[in-house]
Amino acid sequence: MIDLKFSYDNALDFVPEEKINAFQQRIDDSFSALYGKTGRGNDFLGWMDLPDNTGEKIIEKIESLAKTIRSKSEVFVVVGIGGSYLGARAVIEALSHHFLHLKKNDGPAVLYAGQNISEDYLSDLLEILDNKDYSLTVISKSGTTTEPAIAFRILKNHLEKKYGKQEARLRITAVTDKEKGALKQLADEEGFETFVVPDDVGGRYSVLTPVGLLPIAVAGFSIRELLAGGAKMKKHLAESTAIGNNPVAAYAAVRNALYTSGKTTEIMVNYEPRLFYFTEWWKQLYGESEGKEQKGIFPAGVGFTTDLHSMGQYIQDGLRNLFETVISVEKPQHTLSVPHAANNLDKLNYIAGMRLHEVNRQAETGTTLAHVDGGVPNLRIQIPAVTPNVLGQLIYFFEMACAVSGYLLGVNPFDQPGVEAYKKNMFALLGKPGFEKETEAIRKRLG
Ligand code: PA5
Repeated sequence: MIDLKFSYDNALDFVPEEKINAFQQRIDDSFSALYGKTGRGNDFLGWMDLPDNTGEKIIEKIESLAKTIRSKSEVFVVVGIGGSYLGARAVIEALSHHFLHLKKNDGPAVLYAGQNISEDYLSDLLEILDNKDYSLTVISKSGTTTEPAIAFRILKNHLEKKYGKQEARLRITAVTDKEKGALKQLADEEGFETFVVPDDVGGRYSVLTPVGLLPIAVAGFSIRELLAGGAKMKKHLAESTAIGNNPVAAYAAVRNALYTSGKTTEIMVNYEPRLFYFTEWWKQLYGESEGKEQKGIFPAGVGFTTDLHSMGQYIQDGLRNLFETVISVEKPQHTLSVPHAANNLDKLNYIAGMRLHEVNRQAETGTTLAHVDGGVPNLRIQIPAVTPNVLGQLIYFFEMACAVSGYLLGVNPFDQPGVEAYKKNMFALLGKPGFEKETEAIRKRLG
């Protein structure tokens, strides 16, 4: 039994059940294309088998290295961008203490670099690392991505200055292609510990490879449970492709039915701040997979009730091209109630003694009803709690739904040709060798 419940009752005022069910044949075809590896991008389907194909040898190697890193590091820096860091960050932040950086003796704090080119960001990081024992992993499938390459160059120099070349080498792990790319060559030359990103797994589908598993294990969370959750979802989804029985079929059908009814923006909503980076991971997965050929649902994200005080007005009352997908968590990890106050100046005594979670749940129900009344269809994914196993289920659920949705939309959900455009201009402007023609053209354009 899976732990995720998907419901779309609050979308039925906007798309009739028949329109959703009309997707069944194409859903069946999409599943067949995925299982039979006959659809677009079928050389990038390795992620489908990761939950039960990640061998014991890799798991043990990750766990043993994580133990060593944890024993000698106050900080662990994950250097990567896009699919090479968001999955790890989504899981780590979902499972961590909210204020881990201020807590002691809980293993290394995980910090991130290489996901921007900000001089101030990296300078602040170096200032922290000056006074901390740290290790790092550099993650890049291509091994040539500019942002992590710059950050890694700087951090490698910093590590070598701090510990000497020999010890620095032992504090660096590279996760990259098995044979191509500058990072692979450097790792071989310098003798870093390495892990391989499988050829048939694209960045945004790679959280259940060492790309995600190593940082998650270093943060102290069970990668076995995460994989077990993925395997549970995989098995469940293989049992039936019927919209009524398979939550991926239902989610893919409803969101595509909404899309074809003019609901072109999907807002992922959570009521738990620990899920902020899960939404960021989801945004990349769906944005990069579906947004192509002038098509695709725009994936946005909000955290409630926080953003009800900033984005609530727009969602309630702005352009009616939105629908929401709420991840609703049944049980928090702690217990905290609203205290009674003798003077009751804030007039809160009517909820004195009530759990904060109960207040949060009523806010969720009230918001859903208000948004539905305002013209925003609401999809709901309910999970019992945020655990490694449940996160594994959610990850596999969203990956499969993304693949099926992409096929329904008629795009290749596994490539990202549009990402190259900014790189070409940036390289031309920076004067990268080999980009002379583009440099000339861009100079003319800028005058
Ligand atoms: O999903 C993707 O393919 C991208 O987000 C990549 O993960 C990202 O661009 C980083 O690429 P690389 O791992 O090659 O450095």
